[in-house]
Amino acid sequence: MPTERRSLIMLFGGTGDLAIRKLYPAMFKLYQKGNIRDHFAVIGSSRYKVDDAKFREMVEKSVAKESSDKKLIANFASHFYFVTHDVTDLAHYAVLKSKIEELDKKYELQGNRVFYISMAPNFFGTVAKNIKNQNLLSSDGFNRLVIEKPFGRDFESASELNNELSAAFDENQIFRIDHYLGKEMIQNIEAIRFGNTIFEALWNNRYIDNVQVTLAEKLGVEERAGYYDNSGALRDMVQNHIMQIVSLLAMEQPVAFKDTDIRAEKVKALRSLRVYNVAEASSNFVRGQYAAMGNGKEYRQEDGVPKDSNTETFVAGKLMFDNYRWSGTPFYIRTGKKLADKFTRVDVVFKKPLVDIFAFPQSGSAPLTANVLTIFIEPNQGFSLTVNAKNSEQGFHTEPVSLKFLEDSKRTKETPQPYERLIHDVLKGDGTNFASWPEVASAWKFVDQIRRVWDIQQPMFPNYIPGSMGPVSADELLARDHREWVYKLNQ
Ligand code: NDP
Ligand code: BG6
Repeated sequence: MPTERRSLIMLFGGTGDLAIRKLYPAMFKLYQKGNIRDHFAVIGSSRYKVDDAKFREMVEKSVAKESSDKKLIANFASHFYFVTHDVTDLAHYAVLKSKIEELDKKYELQGNRVFYISMAPNFFGTVAKNIKNQNLLSSDGFNRLVIEKPFGRDFESASELNNELSAAFDENQIFRIDHYLGKEMIQNIEAIRFGNTIFEALWNNRYIDNVQVTLAEKLGVEERAGYYDNSGALRDMVQNHIMQIVSLLAMEQPVAFKDTDIRAEKVKALRSLRVYNVAEASSNFVRGQYAAMGNGKEYRQEDGVPKDSNTETFVAGKLMFDNYRWSGTPFYIRTGKKLADKFTRVDVVFKKPLVDIFAFPQSGSAPLTANVLTIFIEPNQGFSLTVNAKNSEQGFHTEPVSLKFLEDSKRTKETPQPYERLIHDVLKGDGTNFASWPEVASAWKFVDQIRRVWDIQQPMFPNYIPGSMGPVSADELLARDHREWVYKLNQ
């Protein structure tokens, strides 16, 4: 039986897109599985004028596809309450406070409180301050703050925000969401690395030639131009998701499998990432913006995008760690919109054997290929390892064969979605899969240098065709090092 978690969840932005599309379905899954049951209550709030009954209808509608059991859904929704509240109006917090206290008693929540800010980022600091100053914090149970992305737009603004949050909450009470950390196969990186001698023993610059991380999206900017054009792929995907994945791949083995130890290692890894000077930033990072194709618009023609926008919809880069484990082994990363397909994968390319004894001139055998460990993050979940083996034909010829494990589609479908895992972790008080401030700070310091260079250099946009894997410069980045992307189009 799962342990029932007891808490009040105070959700700021309770009528927003994220709440409706992701948070309520995730909470319902936790309810269905018994992780939350009798002793929980959710207060949704926003400026919207709606009573509890109408709010519960919204919640029921948002979780309807999760179950055909209408009674279960109605019971779940009965734990939801709505308070109309403008977060900038101090007088409104008194109403929230009394509702929180009433529900705490009613559901015997023992003073446990989760404050989830699912609102535009400019409100994060104000709400955190008001939670504290208007006495919404409990003195008996736990108080936890959940913050959505983005966490600042550069190191300076992120530091300011962090100072505002730290004035109200301790670091171990702050849960910064990066939904990639809630993905099954991202969490599996640690199992693959630290659960297998065959990988961990070789996980260093002596045996690994390079590491490649690809987060490809098929869709364009869709309805989010307002946000996206001010952000771009570097801030939207690299600073957070990619840097988190890279830190999991690069970190040393944690002393124990617990949040403080794992975070400590991720921070150490990120701190040894080489922060580029101007010349290095401009040669080690390339950017792109998608062109028009068929009926599709080019990025600059999308609704809400300025006609002369220089916002990048694609980034590729080479990262170098200056530490004993990784010195000399590059980590190549790429991400973009309107690419060939929607998928996320990691390719770990091992070095070829130092001597290829099969490749004597008369053998006719092709040279040995590099072993590659591919971690399929999405949509497939699994991994493959390519090894060289003798083929079964007459003579002696080697060829690469693939050892592959893919989770079956039923289990993939049943895998908990990121927000279900992450909300569960918040209720447990487990910060493993959240970004700590030192991690966020290091990631910004790295990314800011690239941004600074790009802000003064005029790009030649648009420069890649939808359905491709980005601009030619992304291939050239590796070709320059006599390497190539493991994943190529039409594979
Ligand atoms: P929405 O704009 O859809 O929702 C914002 C919410 O805030 C609404 O409930 C709105 O209700 C409320 N709100 C706005 N102003 C006030 C105010 N002054 N006082 C009280 N409530 C207010 O945003 P999203 O749900 O899309 O995003 C929320 C957060 O989640 C953002 O940080 C975003 O970056 C992040 N995020 C969103 C994703 C998504 O898929 N939507 C994905 C990943 C992250 P009202 O106007 O009625 O007050
Ligand atoms: C979000 C970005 O963080 O991640 C979006 O803001 C992007 O631009 C999304 O589309 C991708 O997430 P996923 O889980 O669909 O790969």
